[in-house]
Amino acid sequence: MSVFFVRGGISLKGNVSISGAKNAAVAIIPAALISNTPCTIENIPNIRDVDTLLDIISDMGARVQRLDEHTIVIDPTQLGCPVVPYEVTKKMRASYYILGALLGRFGKADVAMPGGCKIGARPIDQHIKGFRAIGVDIKMENGMIKARSEKLAGGLVYFDTVSVGATINVMLASVRAAGTTVLENAAKEPHVVDVANFLNTLGADILGAGTDIIRVKGVKSLTGRSYSIVPDQIEAGTFMLCAMATRGDVEISNVTPKHLYTITDKLKDVGAVITEFDDSIRVQMSGGISNTNIKTMPYPGFPTDMQPQMVSLLSLASGTSIVTEGIWESRFKYVDELARLGAKLRVNDRTVVIEGTNQFTAAPVKATDLRAGAALVIAALAAKGTTKIEHVHHIERGYEDIVGKLQKLGADIVRSDDSPLPGAAHDSGTGSFSSYSSVRECS
Ligand code: EPZ
Repeated sequence: MSVFFVRGGISLKGNVSISGAKNAAVAIIPAALISNTPCTIENIPNIRDVDTLLDIISDMGARVQRLDEHTIVIDPTQLGCPVVPYEVTKKMRASYYILGALLGRFGKADVAMPGGCKIGARPIDQHIKGFRAIGVDIKMENGMIKARSEKLAGGLVYFDTVSVGATINVMLASVRAAGTTVLENAAKEPHVVDVANFLNTLGADILGAGTDIIRVKGVKSLTGRSYSIVPDQIEAGTFMLCAMATRGDVEISNVTPKHLYTITDKLKDVGAVITEFDDSIRVQMSGGISNTNIKTMPYPGFPTDMQPQMVSLLSLASGTSIVTEGIWESRFKYVDELARLGAKLRVNDRTVVIEGTNQFTAAPVKATDLRAGAALVIAALAAKGTTKIEHVHHIERGYEDIVGKLQKLGADIVRSDDSPLPGAAHDSGTGSFSSYSSVRECS
């Protein structure tokens, strides 16, 4: 298993370029399966979750060609309507988008229920409620979701809870339905908008993405086109915190500043000097970090996917901060690891009370999931001494070349190379279609 060694205490300086958004990519790749002709997807992040999903759709019969590190062509014309077993869906949660995509393409699908997750129970009742509302008959048998529709019709869906996954999945299933589907209480995240923009580029008729009411007027077919994925707002936010924790001065480029407003606002509150440009932001931090309180909420609220990283930063603040997790019921499992570096944290149900400390000190730690791993990297960059971070495959699920990007900013971080980097096994630039037969482990 690969590990990171991080010698802390160096102020980060320079420029870092942000990759395409993971949570848009893992939805747009299945969305491409609904198209009648090949799609070219640009600004694809080179991360393990993308590798895993490309493996999965290749095994299903789609042909995937990598034009360069960040551009792929997906040809879905030979796609069968396979049974997608648990061995596949357990590899990554976002494989639930294959259900919506197969419904959108064939009007039927047999997909295993995705497994649980380290950040809490992840029910899919709202996905199923949405599918039923557009005329899909759903049965659960032996852990499989069997979805069938004679004819997908439009319908009205009111989501009981704001769900990114359910909003996107029902959008995928309804894009070629005969009629209009109205999604109320829809999620408004930038990646929801990005999926709608992608589908509209292919000829779909989706209005209102980015608001809480989305209207999907079904179209007969989708035609493959080129599309470029939005920048990853969580990767950008994570680098903002790396800059702050090390009292650095970093320009973060290839971002959409308006997607970062909530994060930017909070970081200004706790002492960062942030300058916004058209597609970049500069984060400067010279003084101390102030304490604050945060509650995570659906977009445009403070993102849950920045919560562990923020707890890491606030551990270095003067005074006491309180962070409340408003989305997931157990997203504080990493606190024991952060405590090994000196963080003073008390968890009570969905709230963590953070007593600020002046200094982290290095210790061996383990990433327990993707964002928890990012929180440990931030802490290690600020810590006195050299921290060893194990289980970094979690971090590489969602952060492209985090080691290389931090090194360019001056950080002393190395990866001990026991397993290949994401993308290493892929056809790169040969121009030929390849089949991805080996599927990687993914939490
Ligand atoms: C997406 O997960 C992201 N994943 C998560 O990012 C992110 O934390 C989450 O949205 C919230 O922003 C991807 O986009 C691949 P939800 P998703 O459906 O879609 C409840 C990361 O670190 N709910 O918006 O699975 C659910 O239990 C990851 O990048 C139901 O009750 O999240 C949760 O409390 C981790 N029933 C809340 O809604 C349902 O049918 C939000 O979940 C669906 C969800």
